[in-house]
Amino acid sequence: MTSRKVVVLGTGGTIAGRASSGSDNVGYKAGEVNIADLLGAVPGMSDRLQGCELISEQIAQIDSKDMGWSVWLALQQACGRHLADQSVAAILITHGTDTLEETAFFLHLCLSEAERCRPVILTCAMRPATALTPDGPQNILDAVTVALDSRSSGVLAVCAGAVHAAQHVQKAHTYRVDAFDSGDTGPLAWVEEGQVRWCQSPLPAEDKPKSVYALDTGAVQVPRVEIVMNYAGAGDSLVRALCAASAAAASPLKGIVVAGTGNGTVNADMQSALEHAAASGIQVALSSRCAKGGVVCSGALPLGFRTYPGLSAVKARVQLMLELMA
Ligand code: SIN
Repeated sequence: MTSRKVVVLGTGGTIAGRASSGSDNVGYKAGEVNIADLLGAVPGMSDRLQGCELISEQIAQIDSKDMGWSVWLALQQACGRHLADQSVAAILITHGTDTLEETAFFLHLCLSEAERCRPVILTCAMRPATALTPDGPQNILDAVTVALDSRSSGVLAVCAGAVHAAQHVQKAHTYRVDAFDSGDTGPLAWVEEGQVRWCQSPLPAEDKPKSVYALDTGAVQVPRVEIVMNYAGAGDSLVRALCAASAAAASPLKGIVVAGTGNGTVNADMQSALEHAAASGIQVALSSRCAKGGVVCSGALPLGFRTYPGLSAVKARVQLMLELMA
């Protein structure tokens, strides 16, 4: 009989970071330790695997501030390839914390419903692998625990003993080990001494993606979508500069996501620049710069404007890019 497998895809991040001193938790280089060595340094791993075979693959070795479309595509393809093997129980992805929420949301929107029946779990660390007390090994053990829990499914993030859904997870702290938050929704579950205590269903119906984006792996042009923020004194210059530069750019601007003030509002000058952009065919998505809550609309939006209820600006950008590609 074929044994069940857990596949770990390495992408780099602080979890794979190396510093010159064990007491240095910030002056390290991310993405240095390879995935096989990282997994080999996790105590208690074989017990936690409950007889499953552990397979690892290095997809990238980067600081996640440099994350982008090519690694997302490679991850999506690797997930599809491994999940086509029915003996694969789950996929783990080691990732930097800085853009983990974008990668998680991208996979949430791009993996098929059949693929999302098994868990795809992103995990990370806030301290490098060389730290006196690194958090990566515990996070990996917890991620394996969630991976093998019979209730797990969909794209999840595991960090500091909390399990978050891809749609809600957001990095909320620059330094603390417990760096992630799920806003109003809260975490789905907690991992405690090798057990998962679920507080919510892993993928409630309202969180299922409305459509799954099948990506063309050929030479497809990734639509350029930029984010601008409204703030006191912001004006319209950034939006107008983006639109003016777009005409001559190799990759013309297709969308603007606004991290608006409060309930997605923008100043009057920016509003008129955005309406001008929308009239020229650029899609405008309104989100909020607030850490919690989403834009709540009561009336019609100007033509070419949209909102994505509950999505932060960075996640709205992922969704808009995928919609523009579809
Ligand atoms: C990164 O995101 O790759 C660096 C920061 C981190 O992982 O905490």
